[in-house]
Amino acid sequence: MTIRYGRALSVRSSSDYSGFMEVYREAFGGEPYFETYTDDEIRAIWDEHVSNGRIILAWDEEDLGRVVGFGCSLPLHHAHHDVQEFLAGCIDDGLLPEDFSFDNSWYMSELGVLEAYRNRGIAYELVRNRLLDVSHIRAKYYIMRTAHDKPSNSRHLYEQLGGQPVSRLHDVSDTAQVTENESESAIRVYLFGSSGEALTRITRKIAAKQSASATEAS
Ligand SMILES: CC(C)(COP(=O)(O)OP(=O)(O)OC[C@H]1O[C@@H](n2cnc3c(N)ncnc32)[C@H](O)[C@@H]1OP(=O)(O)O)[C@@H](O)C(=O)NCCC(=O)NCCS
Repeated sequence: MTIRYGRALSVRSSSDYSGFMEVYREAFGGEPYFETYTDDEIRAIWDEHVSNGRIILAWDEEDLGRVVGFGCSLPLHHAHHDVQEFLAGCIDDGLLPEDFSFDNSWYMSELGVLEAYRNRGIAYELVRNRLLDVSHIRAKYYIMRTAHDKPSNSRHLYEQLGGQPVSRLHDVSDTAQVTENESESAIRVYLFGSSGEALTRITRKIAAKQSASATEAS
């Protein structure tokens, strides 16, 4: 399997865009979220990220460049208002590092891999590429959120990068993700950390995994 990683172009009518839609629907339509999205909603997510943030895609080169995964991020001051409102309260109450701010942090907003491609390290590569892509643009910290009331698919990954949980949980039961997209996870936990440290750790982790699989194959 040959997977290529890179930044999505801003063109909405491309195969990248339709591939993103397919993976998005499958990734968040399954455990633990079981969310539903209209084409317009996914289009808005794509447009927001290509305009104000980043979308890293994974393409399967052996399947005509099919999109098989994505990792999206936004400067924290562009994150959804419910995220900003919650984190502003955490900053005010001293639950984040003193120098953590909306101007030096990126929100790791979306991560998804097609089921048939999971458990092969694609998410690690997406997260590494995403961190590399924003490392030079006011990204001292990264922060993400995931399910707390259901088993999270991504918490382990971020813990491997040194991600620390924010000690306050976010009840999202009155947000659109639950009321409109029917998310089955209403309590979320945020994990944050230094982007530089995460990049070092994830690069080492990927190298260790590659060397383990090379040893296994020989
Ligand atoms: C989360 C997701 C992107 C992981 O993709 P992936 O390509 O299978 O992940 P990787 O193969 O790179 O694995 C990364 C690490 O997470 C672990 N992992 C993978 N899936 C996991 C799961 N469902 N639960 C717990 N850990 C998991 C892997 O074992 C690996 O850790 P290790 O190196 O210590 O063994 C994928 O499961 C997905 O798309 N899920 C649905 C959408 C979702 O939950 N996104 C996260 C939103 S916050």
